[in-house]
Amino acid sequence: MDKFIIKGGRRLTGEVTISGAKNAAVAILPAVILSDEPCIIENVPSISDVNISLRILEEMGAVVESPANNVYRIDPTHIDKYCVPYETARKMRASYYFLGALLGKFNKARVSMPGGCPLGDRPIDQHLKAFSALGAEYTLSQGMIDLKADSLKGSQIFFDVVSVGATMNALLASVKASGLTVIENAAKEPHIVDLANFLNSMGANIMGAGTDVIKVRGVEHLHGANYAVIPDQIEAGTFMIAAAATQGDVIIKNIIPKHLESITKKLEKIGVNIELYDDSLRVWTEGPLVKANVKTTPHPGFPTDMQPQIAALLTLAEGTSIVTEGVWEQRFRYVDELRRMGADITVNGKVALIEGTGKLMGAPVKACDLRAGAALIIAGLAAQGITEIEDIYHIERGYDCMEGKLKELGADIEKVSIPDKLDDKNDKKAVV
Ligand code: EPU
Repeated sequence: MDKFIIKGGRRLTGEVTISGAKNAAVAILPAVILSDEPCIIENVPSISDVNISLRILEEMGAVVESPANNVYRIDPTHIDKYCVPYETARKMRASYYFLGALLGKFNKARVSMPGGCPLGDRPIDQHLKAFSALGAEYTLSQGMIDLKADSLKGSQIFFDVVSVGATMNALLASVKASGLTVIENAAKEPHIVDLANFLNSMGANIMGAGTDVIKVRGVEHLHGANYAVIPDQIEAGTFMIAAAATQGDVIIKNIIPKHLESITKKLEKIGVNIELYDDSLRVWTEGPLVKANVKTTPHPGFPTDMQPQIAALLTLAEGTSIVTEGVWEQRFRYVDELRRMGADITVNGKVALIEGTGKLMGAPVKACDLRAGAALIIAGLAAQGITEIEDIYHIERGYDCMEGKLKELGADIEKVSIPDKLDDKNDKKAVV
């Protein structure tokens, strides 16, 4: 098991380049299954969730090669299995994208239900609603989801909640369905648009991605494509906050400023300076940070995947801040760890009250999920003394070379291996 050891108190300065977006890549890689020819995907982040997606593709019979760093050539033409077993599916929540992709291509799929979850209840009823609307039947037994259809037919799909995963799966399953599919109350995140753009580059006919009504006119064949994944807005936001928390001055490269609007506006309210360029930005802080209220909502609102990081920043700001989680049932589990570092935070249901103390102290802490881990890194960088973060496998699921990038910016952070404790020996179930 690895952990990070951070000596806090160093200002971050210099330049950092953002990697491809995790939540786009984990949908685009399964989408390659729909193609009748090989595809080349560029700007793929080096993270463990991507490794799992590639392993699943290989296990199904795809030929995966990496001609250059962060570039994969995937030939799906030899895929002859339609099943993602429990052992692989439980390691990554996003394995549910294989349901939509396999169903869309072969009219059948068998994928294990994704395992337990650290963010509260994570149903997939809306995914199943979309598959049913397109004409598939599903059965759930022995922890597996089986989907099959004689043929898929375009239909009207109305989501009862705005769901990124269900919208992606509806796209994957409908691109080759006959006729017109209309997806209403769709999610609008940049990774939805990225998946739609990739599918369109293979010959799909998708209109309206990025709005709440998406129309898909089914096509018979999808051809190979060469496509680059968008930059990761959450990684960019995390580095912005790390710079702000250390009173640093950092240029963040390979970003799409439009995707960062809600984060940029909120940070400016907190007293962080931001200058936007075409595909990069400068973020710096001079002087004290001030309180702010933050409520997470689906895009274009403030992203839930930035909630723990901004809460860590607000512990350093003057005044009382209120952070309200509007997407997940349980996204405050990291608060106990921040309290160990001296943060004054009270949680009541989906609302956290943060009394800014202006400083944090290093402590041994544990990452309980991916973004919680990012928040602890930010806190550790800003804290006085040494912070040791355990369970960093969560962080490595979604951040490409986090410690290497932070070191380049002047952080004192090391990754060290520690022997497994007896009760840690069971393989961890990471599923955000
Ligand atoms: N929901 C339902 N039924 C469904 C699906 C979702 O009730 O069938 C509810 C969920 O319980 C939740 C809300 O709808 O309250 C939104 O869930 P959504 O389906 O949008 O989440 P997701 O697709 O499972 C993705 C990201 C998450 C991110 C959320 C929200 C991926 C692989 N994961 O999850 O990313 O928090 O969207 O933006 O794209 C992360 O990267 O740290 C992460 C957790």
